[in-house]
Amino acid sequence: MDIREQLKSIRENAVNALNETDSSEKLEALRVQYLGKKGELTSVLSQMGKLSAEERPVIGQIANEVRSFIENEIKTKREEVAKIEMEKRLAAESIDVTLPGNSNVLGKKHPLSIVLDEVKDAFISMGFTIVSGPEVEYDYYNFEALNIPKDHPARDTQDTFYFSPEILLRTQTSSVQIRAMEQMKPPIRVLSPGRVYRIDEVDATHSPIFHQIEGLVVDKGITMAHLKGSLELISKKLFGEDIKTRIRPDYFPFTEPSAEISISCFKCGGKGCKFCKGEGWIEIGGAGMVNPKVLANLGIDPNVYSGFAFGMGLERLVLRRYNIDDIRLLLENDVRFLNMFD
Ligand code: PHE
Repeated sequence: MDIREQLKSIRENAVNALNETDSSEKLEALRVQYLGKKGELTSVLSQMGKLSAEERPVIGQIANEVRSFIENEIKTKREEVAKIEMEKRLAAESIDVTLPGNSNVLGKKHPLSIVLDEVKDAFISMGFTIVSGPEVEYDYYNFEALNIPKDHPARDTQDTFYFSPEILLRTQTSSVQIRAMEQMKPPIRVLSPGRVYRIDEVDATHSPIFHQIEGLVVDKGITMAHLKGSLELISKKLFGEDIKTRIRPDYFPFTEPSAEISISCFKCGGKGCKFCKGEGWIEIGGAGMVNPKVLANLGIDPNVYSGFAFGMGLERLVLRRYNIDDIRLLLENDVRFLNMFD
């Protein structure tokens, strides 16, 4: 084929091929095929040497025209293809605003945390500081310093897991009383909530892990009246203005005198019902005046200072507060249950 024919057919083929091109990849392949260094046009031009001196500039001009024609066609096509591709993308990526959205489920506070936070707030407003102690505790803080020596029968009701004869899972937050009195000088006003452990079978009212809230006040002139006042305030805050608080004699080795704390049954108002087992009162914890022996052991002069302490079971407060009859519900983390609290 004569070189003019070749150039003509390159031009025609290029136009036809471009007409069928619908993507930028294909377009780029065509550009390489026709205009590239090893492309068709280049290979035709390499034959220019065979031409006569008169023909060479003529053919050269035709070749240049073909090149710039194809370049122009490709340029136009490129804009067209870019537009089509953009439209395709927009269609593919468009968002159907009529579809229902994915809502994020917000977590809620656990009922134990709800009640604990309220208790903390109430005591903070009375000038208490929140402190905490370790759950893996020395026998000394959990028992010995609380006036419960190794052979004391009070240990029987608080059997626990021992890591060694001197290290155990704490059975009561009262251990933090000792730590607080070691570290602080009177006046002391601390509240110490936390987990405690006792060997127990799990049932509706028992769990080997539960929470206590310990309170301790040591200052000059502290009496049982301060204890009762504080307990009354917190009961009313949690259960309403009509709630009565009762303290009755009890026994704890580290308090003297000791008391059992109860609140009037808010179901029957104290008349006695199924909920309070006919008693009209519901026990929520233990309390008392810090045993002078305990104070003296910690270097606090019992002739100058006195103090009160109390320990309440958090689970009990929560069960009473929300009228729940099984402690296991508080530990199972069933979201259907947990979603019922706000
Ligand atoms: N720690 C005691 C118990 O677990 C409760 C208590 C605390 C009693 C503080 C008196 C003072 O039974």
